[in-house]
Amino acid sequence: MLRSISKIAATAAVFVTLGVAGTVTAAEKISPPAQDWQHAGIFGTFDRDQLQRGYQVYSEVCAACHSLRQIYFRNLEAIGFSENRVKAIAAEVEVAGEPDSDGESTTRQGKPFDRIPGPYPNEQAARAANGGAYPPDLSLMVKARLGGADYLYALLTGYGDAPQGMQMNEGMSFNEYFPGHQIAMPAPLSEDAVEYEDGTSASVEQMAKDVTTFLAWTAEPELEERKRLGIKVLLFLLVLTAMTYALKRKIWSDLH
Ligand code: HEC
Repeated sequence: MLRSISKIAATAAVFVTLGVAGTVTAAEKISPPAQDWQHAGIFGTFDRDQLQRGYQVYSEVCAACHSLRQIYFRNLEAIGFSENRVKAIAAEVEVAGEPDSDGESTTRQGKPFDRIPGPYPNEQAARAANGGAYPPDLSLMVKARLGGADYLYALLTGYGDAPQGMQMNEGMSFNEYFPGHQIAMPAPLSEDAVEYEDGTSASVEQMAKDVTTFLAWTAEPELEERKRLGIKVLLFLLVLTAMTYALKRKIWSDLH
């Protein structure tokens, strides 16, 4: 009797411990609040002006540390930049060229067929410049993180002071939404960090929204195409169903 009571107590203790552990991890993970995204839903499309603002934020702020290697400069025509503008944008970066006749490596101006490079020649250089942390390529980031665009937006706007008593490691910033709350990326956005060409006021929230939308596009440039095709297929099936039904009624009408 005594033994079974102690057994029950032990089991209860295990459950209580598990429960506590469960709440601790739940508190660690704060899910990002859902935002209204214009590209969400089956009829969702990207706003070209917003994509261009997002590219501006990427190129003037994020490109100081992050690459966008799945995207070629020429892809930017899809967000509304003219061919000449794309050429000019590409020409602003320096990329590795062919080795010269002595075998020495050379650099040349970027061309529309180049990928959008990051600022560092290799991962070691990137880590050395960022206190050991690696600024990941951002092309597919919206797809690579749980919470997608909502998470990216929350991350970019989630900086603040560490709560009292929290021990921060050197060079780390407090971020409410980063797992563990210590991130090696200093808050990248501050009010008016960019001056938008279209006159939109550049609040931190606005820039975060624009650059996240742009990164949702880089992760899925074919999104609109896919939705358009989906809607066409649905319409086709609808018409086909109606025609088949009409045909069925016609054939069976003789038999009634
Ligand atoms: C000064 C360099 C620097 C700048 C500028 C910068 N980042 Fe970062 N970023 C980093 C570093 C370093 C990390 C890795 C952080 C870590 O692992 O703690 C990072 C990580 C990230 C991550 C991944 C977070 C995760 O969940 O793993 C995202 C997304 C990101 N940055 C987006 C951006 C965007 C968008 C901008 C521009 C608005 C930007 N970064 C500007 C250095 C930078």
